[in-house]
Amino acid sequence: MTLTGELKWWQSGIIYQIYPRSFQDASGDGVGDLRGITARLPYVASLGVEAVWLSPIFTSPMRDFGYDVADYCDIDPLFGTLEDFDALVAEAHRLGLKVMLDYVPNHSSSDHPWFQEALRGKDSDKRDWYVWRDPAPGGGVPNNWKSFFGGPAWTLDEASGQYYLHQFLPTQPDLNWRNPAVRAAMFEALRFWMRRGVDGFRVDVIWLLAEDERFLDEPVNSDWRPGEIEHASLEHIYTQDQPETHEYIREMRAVLDEFDDRMMVGEIYLPVEKLLPFAGTADAPMVHLPFNFHLILMPWDAEQIRAFADRYDGACRAAHTWPNWVLGNHDQHRFRTRVGDAQYRVAQTLLLTLRGTPTVYYGDEIGMRNVPVPPERMVDPAGLQQPDTPAAGRDPERTPMQWDTTPNAGFSAPGTEPWLPLAEDFAAVNVQVQEADPNSDLHYFRALTRLRREHPALVGGDYRSLDTGHPDVFAFERTLEAGRVVVALNFGAQTRDLGEVLGGECLLSSLGDQPQPGAPLRPNEARVLRG
Ligand code: NOJ
Repeated sequence: MTLTGELKWWQSGIIYQIYPRSFQDASGDGVGDLRGITARLPYVASLGVEAVWLSPIFTSPMRDFGYDVADYCDIDPLFGTLEDFDALVAEAHRLGLKVMLDYVPNHSSSDHPWFQEALRGKDSDKRDWYVWRDPAPGGGVPNNWKSFFGGPAWTLDEASGQYYLHQFLPTQPDLNWRNPAVRAAMFEALRFWMRRGVDGFRVDVIWLLAEDERFLDEPVNSDWRPGEIEHASLEHIYTQDQPETHEYIREMRAVLDEFDDRMMVGEIYLPVEKLLPFAGTADAPMVHLPFNFHLILMPWDAEQIRAFADRYDGACRAAHTWPNWVLGNHDQHRFRTRVGDAQYRVAQTLLLTLRGTPTVYYGDEIGMRNVPVPPERMVDPAGLQQPDTPAAGRDPERTPMQWDTTPNAGFSAPGTEPWLPLAEDFAAVNVQVQEADPNSDLHYFRALTRLRREHPALVGGDYRSLDTGHPDVFAFERTLEAGRVVVALNFGAQTRDLGEVLGGECLLSSLGDQPQPGAPLRPNEARVLRG
């Protein structure tokens, strides 16, 4: 157990992810911006979250919507200016919110002056800032490595006859982290933002920084099935989770530790035993939180989730690592769509009551669903480049925030065409309507964050799962000193009598009432009880 006062902000608080293009358009061009976000920060603070993480806002040609950075130390004009950014940070801090930026170290944009300089030829002093290889002996790509967005991870630079590596788009060349000058320049960017008051970073694809120097073919993944993205057809033993990557992250952490109380959370899609080492050790720390995406990746099944939560919580304890949980982000389909309407509040309750830092994706607090995007409005390169893999498209989870019932849902001025279509049901699912309805999903979300504040056991308390006798019910307790809170989640459509487990006073039910102590758990009900 950990008393709340002993926890850091990134352990006790909730991280709220904003996808800046889709939060609030103040300039009237159909794309969200910094002034829009700043205007909406009081709403964010009202949710009871601790920090906002902004997906990339840096200078970019936007071929991957900002994950292709052309200047790590400036704001793209689409989003505003450095002054707008300073105003955003000041307002966030005034409201008691931390600000986290999205740091994209694995690759730059091909428009970045470093890459443009590297293209000048083999003698360019920036050539070695990227990863170049000669063609294979018989010609063609140097090896079989694949891009996450389909096709080879290599593109030919005809002028020099060499290929450069890109694990994403050809316009996102991989930086060469083996080069100390690259690391120095990239670390300077971190300092630039920390000096401006930034409290932390989400680090993009941090497990991909280094590649094996032998550049051997990766083996075929025999578990790959048609319908999965092409990238998954290989086992990425030479492009992911390399020992050098761990070394570079230790250096990155040392840069953060030059400043007070900063943090980084790393984007890492790996199994638990490979994930937790990214937190490092007390002597050689790495990321503060290695993102745990397993609730997104596993089936929505009470027994499997219980088994995972037990294993993950135990592994975090053994590794002295703080746990964290995620249900959605800008790369994953909306969790309401994944788990279904009936299970939406069960999932939200789980996210906000398990031991560990929750990360919440904008709009999930009002229950936004995937928005079907017609082919002529699709813009995500991951989807456009992989037409045979419809699930690869990420537009449906990136649509504008639904604020009110006016045309464009209050995201953009009426008459403007937002960059992605709005949900058809926005007139019913929006902040304004839900503010006025005490039984809304928004109020349910706030009730959960209030419970976290009122019951320190839900934040720092130990976790232990409970036997319920029903495979479709997952129940657990959180205990801190004399405080005990029980969470019971019915994943099924049957009423379940759990006897003693439900014996405490009901603090919150997802069904909006307050059942008597001991009352059976109803279909799809989430209940939080005093222990
Ligand atoms: C992971 C990001 O979350 C995703 O949106 C992006 O396309 C890739 N990294 C490339 O930066």
